[in-house]
Amino acid sequence: MTTIDPTHLRLLTMVPAVLLGVAAVVATVWLAAHVVRYLLADAEIRPAIRVGWRIRYSWRRTAVRVGLVQTEHVRPPSWSSRPQTVVVRRELVPAVRVRARRWGVEVDASTVGRLGLVEFQHAAGHLADAWRVPQVRVAQVRPGLVRLRALLVDPLTQPTAWDGQTTTADHLETWSAGVDADSQPVTIRSSGVSGVVVAGLAGFGKTSLLNARFCQLAPSPAVQFVLIDGKGGPDYDDLFVRAWLAAKDDPEQVRDHLVRVHELMTGRQRCIRAVLGVKNVWHVGPSASWPLVVVVIDEAHTFFNESKGTDVESKKRDAVARQTARLVEELVRKGRNVGIQVILATQKATGDAIPTRIRDNCQVAVSFAQRTSEAATAVLGSDITGFPDEHPRRLQDPAYIGVASMVAEGRPGFTLVRTPYVSDATADRIAADTAGLVRDPLRLLADAAGATPPSDEDREGGGSFRQEHPAALPASSPPTSGEELRR
Ligand SMILES: Nc1ncnc2c1ncn2[C@@H]1O[C@H](COP(=O)(O)OP(=O)(O)OP(=O)(O)O)[C@@H](O)[C@H]1O
Ligand SMILES: [Mg+2]
Repeated sequence: MTTIDPTHLRLLTMVPAVLLGVAAVVATVWLAAHVVRYLLADAEIRPAIRVGWRIRYSWRRTAVRVGLVQTEHVRPPSWSSRPQTVVVRRELVPAVRVRARRWGVEVDASTVGRLGLVEFQHAAGHLADAWRVPQVRVAQVRPGLVRLRALLVDPLTQPTAWDGQTTTADHLETWSAGVDADSQPVTIRSSGVSGVVVAGLAGFGKTSLLNARFCQLAPSPAVQFVLIDGKGGPDYDDLFVRAWLAAKDDPEQVRDHLVRVHELMTGRQRCIRAVLGVKNVWHVGPSASWPLVVVVIDEAHTFFNESKGTDVESKKRDAVARQTARLVEELVRKGRNVGIQVILATQKATGDAIPTRIRDNCQVAVSFAQRTSEAATAVLGSDITGFPDEHPRRLQDPAYIGVASMVAEGRPGFTLVRTPYVSDATADRIAADTAGLVRDPLRLLADAAGATPPSDEDREGGGSFRQEHPAALPASSPPTSGEELRR
């Protein structure tokens, strides 16, 4: 029989005490690191750090309580001493990574089995109660990863200002709309887009968003504007200097401008292959000689109001509204490949305000705050009901002025975007500085096709671009000419 040396015995009895000591040192260092990090942090972020601790250390218990747990029945692992016939019950809780942010706590959770975006969305209210925060927002970052935002302060409520970016070719292809809740830039597709609807309650930032787009595009010679302000107020007065065509709330003038844009569209349709060598301008990109024509119609509903009266004046107004609606519909349906883009802003995007045949053909939709689900669905489509966090009804608080819900480029579902505020002074200065870039796209087209455009007298006298310049514009006649629409 072997005997243990008393010295070894003494050492062996010390092992638990040593392990305990090491564990105590590690715990103390770890705690000290946390305390030091906390003390070094800004006073602003400390509440978020405290909530982060609470979330991290109670996560397993909270997840089980709010139903974010998946139970499965499995055989014991092969190395277990239990017989393989036994069935073991296992509870799977999504793994989380917790980070304190200035606005609250960001919790990245891995999806598990049937626990995905929808289950987290359903649990969001309970998580907010458990974590004692005003709101928890849920979004899918990528397959397998859901991001929860426990908001102490909603980052989207922090206004941002236009940073004075100057134009790049990129702005023609994509529209920098603003930043998301993580301050990441959000873009909207512009290339190949012929129709955009911007809707929202009065005073929530529609015109400011259009101003921002104007400021992005105005310095580019590859863009010409048609600016129409249905409000008839001074909002656009100083921007008109950078516009090829401009009008306020005079329905007949607006109709006539749209007839000219329509004429441009049909002229371009006939010439595009001969001039650009392609069937779609977006394959080569807009240029100074073939500019993107952006038609902004603010308070667009003003021009689609059909009058029901039977007196002569009402009938005349009704006829103009119908012509305007038909012109806009054609521009949205057919303007895409020739570089014509119509942006309609309206307080109401329901069918009684904007004809559905126009609204539903717009490829891009942006909604600021809305009072009703119907109004939100009218702009963004019925899919928005599946995104309660991004629903425009949640944006009715004045803190969300300038925040819009939209389908952004390269992102699944809907995204809430803080749009930059552009002061009138900035937009006016950019318009004045770039006023020299205004050109008549009809003339540019005629020049490119080797002919001159019709004069105003020609137009008044019933002559059309095609009839006057048969050589420039091949014979294939468009389905609806500007002249027909004017009638
Ligand atoms: N992105 C923004 N950030 C901060 N404040 C904004 C923003 N956009 C607009 N505002 C504020 O809201 C006010 C109203 O904005 P804007 O004129 O763009 O609203 P609107 O939706 O066009 O309203 P209406 O339907 O009455 O024309 C602005 O004067 C400005 O003070
Ligand atoms: Mg406005």
